[in-house]
Amino acid sequence: MDKKELVTLATEARENSYSPYSGFKVGAALLTKSGKVYKGCNIENGAFSPTNCAERTAVFSAISDGEREFTAIAVVGGKDEINSYCPPCGVCRQVLCEFCDKDFEIYLYDGENIKTYTLGQLLPESFKL
Ligand code: THU
Repeated sequence: MDKKELVTLATEARENSYSPYSGFKVGAALLTKSGKVYKGCNIENGAFSPTNCAERTAVFSAISDGEREFTAIAVVGGKDEINSYCPPCGVCRQVLCEFCDKDFEIYLYDGENIKTYTLGQLLPESFKL
């Protein structure tokens, strides 16, 4: 599974986005160490705060399926076309930190190029109990 394939799966997941309030559709594809992929989309709510981001949907789906080890996630988002990068929000970074190492990779796509970060780059000095 290469970066491009994972981005394609995140783009597919984005199609299921439930985002009637923001109109901002996000998809994520999370790769496990064993090679499985869990997809997720953002799921909004009329009360706003229960909204779940695409990344967390993917992580929670994988965790509830018994997976605990991950190597990478691709995140794709935008209102209509994908024309800018959609970096994970702070809450999602913290959730990823619970389960992933500093060298876990995050692939962002702007419709043309893929940019790669590590979790350590996006959340340095992270909090852990
Ligand atoms: N969103 C995500 O799904 N992931 C992020 O990392 C940032 C934001 C969603 C939440 C909400 O449904 C919409 O994008 C606008 O904030």
